[in-house]
Amino acid sequence: MDAACFKNELDKRVEYIENVIGGYLPEEKGNASKVFAAMNYSVLAGGKRLRPMLVLETYRMFAGEGFPIVPDAVTAAMAAIECVHTYSLVHDDLPAMDNDEYRRGRLTTWKVYGDAIGILAGDGLLNYAFEILNEAAVKEFEKNDAVMAQRLIRAAACLSKKAGSFGMIGGQTADLEAEGKGNSVKLDELMFIHEHKTACLIQAALMMGAILGGADDDQLNAMERCGYNVGIAFQIQDDILDIIGNTEELGKKVGSDAANDKVTYVTLKGLEQSKADVELLSNEAEAILAGIEGDHEFLDALVLSLVTRRK
Ligand code: IPE
Ligand code: IPE
Ligand code: MG
Ligand code: MG
Ligand code: MG
Repeated sequence: MDAACFKNELDKRVEYIENVIGGYLPEEKGNASKVFAAMNYSVLAGGKRLRPMLVLETYRMFAGEGFPIVPDAVTAAMAAIECVHTYSLVHDDLPAMDNDEYRRGRLTTWKVYGDAIGILAGDGLLNYAFEILNEAAVKEFEKNDAVMAQRLIRAAACLSKKAGSFGMIGGQTADLEAEGKGNSVKLDELMFIHEHKTACLIQAALMMGAILGGADDDQLNAMERCGYNVGIAFQIQDDILDIIGNTEELGKKVGSDAANDKVTYVTLKGLEQSKADVELLSNEAEAILAGIEGDHEFLDALVLSLVTRRK
């Protein structure tokens, strides 16, 4: 797939995903309208929409269909994972965590709505994700599609595990614990942080798409391994961009890691080795995808595009 074709396909998908997510968001009304406004503020700020795109493309690869006509079960999974991801960013930016003021090109949720509503908006998004998935499963049962209903329940179980304290929350905990410890943090501790805080949710995206697309157990394991490689590469590149990136392009301030005295892949391995490892890990992800039948031309291009991403 050449660069122009990739850009065109990427833009089509981002536009489609924006519409899907918009369709699931809560109305800003009633006595709790403030929390809905804060939830929508953070989700509608944009972002790359990588995780829902990975759900969609993995579903397509296994199901052999799925874009531009996407089943409701899949749109539910796409919206749900973006809600979980956005909640993680809203909380990650709080003063008690990374204390960041810009995200996705705007002031962070807590800067606009205050810390308390920032916490509640994150909580709201996390719960809303599972409301979307569980309601989608109920609808499939009502349509007598027990197979899809069961796949949705498995997808929800996967997301809750990968995002929870055994997954992303565990990674965020270890990330905070390592603050200020400099290079006394060992590589295996850093890999725990990167795997859990970031790779787990990328794994969930690939695995949810696979589950909904009817992948077998071996294929599901392959997607979990693939997500590990993509996810670690993604976080290393995030660490790199925090140093050499550009605030305008990134939509968030650079230098946050240094300001918080974080240990990152770059502080442990240096810039050049970090860049080389992003490429290595992405190629490993690619090799796993190569072993899977089905159309993954766009997915391949997407994974490889992350190596040189500037945002
Ligand atoms: C940022 O994720 C947090 C990390 C896991 C590094 P993204 O870089 O995917 O953020 P958005 O969704 O594009 O804003
Ligand atoms: C964030 O890692 C991971 C999660 C939000 C779970 P970072 O703290 O490096 O992400 P950014 O750089 O703020 O986006
Ligand atoms: Mg953080
Ligand atoms: Mg942060
Ligand atoms: Mg970062």
